Amino acid sequence: MDVPFSQWYKAIEYRRSRRQFVPRPLEPELRERMCTVCDEFRPFPETRAVLVSQSPDGVFKGLLGHYGRIKGATAFIAYIGNMDCPNVQEKLGYMGEGIILEATSLGLATCWVGGFFKPEVAAQLAGSAEQEKVLAVTPIGYPKAEWSIEEKLMTGFGRNHQRKPLAELIVNSPDTQFPIWVKSALEAARLAPSAVNRQPWRFTVSADDITISVDNLKDTYHISKRLDCGIAMLHLELAAFCNGLRGTWEFLEAPKVARYYRVRPLTY
Ligand SMILES: Cc1cc2nc3c(=O)[nH]c(=O)nc-3n(C[C@H](O)[C@H](O)[C@H](O)COP(=O)(O)O)c2cc1C
Repeated sequence: MDVPFSQWYKAIEYRRSRRQFVPRPLEPELRERMCTVCDEFRPFPETRAVLVSQSPDGVFKGLLGHYGRIKGATAFIAYIGNMDCPNVQEKLGYMGEGIILEATSLGLATCWVGGFFKPEVAAQLAGSAEQEKVLAVTPIGYPKAEWSIEEKLMTGFGRNHQRKPLAELIVNSPDTQFPIWVKSALEAARLAPSAVNRQPWRFTVSADDITISVDNLKDTYHISKRLDCGIAMLHLELAAFCNGLRGTWEFLEAPKVARYYRVRPLTY
């Protein structure tokens, strides 16, 4: 499908994880649009998404305090990866965030859930092959208009949405001024959601490329930090594209994740 770059780029600004929903099924045209995006946004053949029009209540489990309590959703999306393939976590993060940004731009609410759910129940409802695993899910639906006290508690009264300053995330200190595409790309990547808001991405930057690495190799809550980094990859690429840079990804060995670099025009 043609990626709606500027629509998704704009949605980065106002996307928030929402955990309380109006218990109302999706309007047919919104449901259809989301099914189409799940079917057609397949940047990597080894990851896919399935919209399940059924309450996800049986899919969620064990809570960490109030964190993770999803209420009222009437549908969810299962993010499924082929575990035999390399780089499946970051590819799934990249794909899943595209679908989340599409939902956001349609006025729908979502919340990545990577740890506190039952993958086998989600797999049963969504359907999956032997080598596949549901790595994450998101409820999808209409958000409650007002944030209840309970939902405010879940977000730590907004604390879980705060982000680290870029200075903490850039690991090298190049002495040149960054071009505009680099500045916008880093800012958009910084806003990516991550499990427990851990923000594991670190950036090595030059005027021609940006490399994303994880802060360390210790995954927490059994959720891969590379999945978070895949989400940041999509944010980075949307911003770069909307600021005139045509680039491509090269996947890298841990602790690096991937490098985004300019696709140079052919010269004769
Ligand atoms: C891979 C991943 C897994 C997550 N898992 C959970 C989860 O299990 N339960 C939950 O309530 N939120 C979960 N979240 C949501 C994060 O807590 C949230 O994205 C983060 O605090 C930033 O807040 P924001 O999304 O509102 O910007 C997850 C997010 C990501 C990206």
